[in-house]
Amino acid sequence: TGLTTLDSGFVNTASCSSAITYIDGDAGILRYRGYPIEQLAEKSSFLEVSHLLIHGELPSAGELDEFTDRIRRHTLLHEDLKRFFDGFPRDAHPMPVLSSAVSALSTFYQDSLDPFDDDQVELSTVRLLAKLPTIAAYAYKKSVGQPFLYPDNSLSLTENFLRMTFGFPAEPYEADPELVKTLDMLLILHADHEQNCSTSTVRMVGSSNANLFASVSAGINALFGPLHGGANQSVLEMLEGIRRDGGDVAAFVERVKNKEPGVKLMGFGHRVYKSYDPRAAIVAQAARDVLAKLGGDDELLDIALALEQAALTDDYFVERRLYPNVDFYTGLIYRAMGFPTRMFTVLFAMGRLPGWIAHWREMISDPQTKIGRPRQIYTGATERSYVDLAQR
Ligand code: CMC
Repeated sequence: TGLTTLDSGFVNTASCSSAITYIDGDAGILRYRGYPIEQLAEKSSFLEVSHLLIHGELPSAGELDEFTDRIRRHTLLHEDLKRFFDGFPRDAHPMPVLSSAVSALSTFYQDSLDPFDDDQVELSTVRLLAKLPTIAAYAYKKSVGQPFLYPDNSLSLTENFLRMTFGFPAEPYEADPELVKTLDMLLILHADHEQNCSTSTVRMVGSSNANLFASVSAGINALFGPLHGGANQSVLEMLEGIRRDGGDVAAFVERVKNKEPGVKLMGFGHRVYKSYDPRAAIVAQAARDVLAKLGGDDELLDIALALEQAALTDDYFVERRLYPNVDFYTGLIYRAMGFPTRMFTVLFAMGRLPGWIAHWREMISDPQTKIGRPRQIYTGATERSYVDLAQR
């Protein structure tokens, strides 16, 4: 018809206008609502950044107290929702458990179904921010067969999550404040990244006027894929694979360059960044600090450092402008903190949640929004006549 231009993967198509996050991929710049990621990572907190992304401004002290208080009151899961976790196989991956539980929130909060009811959207926002860490911790507890803990609302969101994940009922649990701070910082680094695959999914689903829970559940499923959020798990598996094969980094790089099927340098490359991912620089330093403190798996860190060094000086990667992305070093930190590999992408989802919510809300309140409905280039058969079954 002449009306359609093919842009597979939306490499050059803007799907919306947005005032939330700015990226300059050539210069390695990332800003949330104008604030450089480096400053937010160093000085801010995850809840403050959530407020910034969702409401557009850093909160005043009073606003932050109120926001934190509201979230605190919603951390509990309905007992019936808690029972959902019993139904999954014990070895279930926690990502589909997470998306299922978030999807189920629509059934528990049927007042959430109208996306144009501002008060209900606010309530759904708070519910989701409050409950996702509880759901994530239960997904973990389920996978290791340990009892669930109720949230302790005297704790901060991040401490509460760590306690529900690693604590035991009736046993005191005290999170190391430095680790709480590092985890909070990692959540900040993941909090938004404009029109990535999962955020675009959240917007696409929401563009049909589906509610916040349904849209975010879809985003979690998009994040599960190894080319997106699942990359943090794949990186660690890659590093372990290299160690198992004798630790020959150069040989692995050769396999990547030869494009052996299924062999990529995971945690490298990015659609938008064609220079160093600013988040990766912060994470690399945090990985060194955390491993020095906790005595994590130094061997894997050494392999990662050697891989990065080999790639950054190799023509294949230089020509294609492939640099480490945010996922390259995060897994090493999560591992040192005690998270099993399968929880890594769940941590990404917890971080990305305020970004998904901010985009969904921006999309719903934007008068320019239309239902997402791309066109296609048809490549199938031209018209042909039906052949009766007996004649085929
Ligand atoms: N290892 C080896 N080669 C690569 C890699 C890699 N990680 N990434 C890209 N390339 C090559 C690719 O084969 C292609 O080469 P050629 O021109 O010879 O065909 C060239 O670089 C361009 O890559 P592309 O696949 O066209 O780039 P894209 O923008 O479509 O894909 C990406 C971006 C992130 C999916 C890709 O770089 C990748 O698969 N990386 C590994 C997975 C990963 O780390 N994902 C996390 C992304 S950041 C956080 C997040 O979104 O979760």
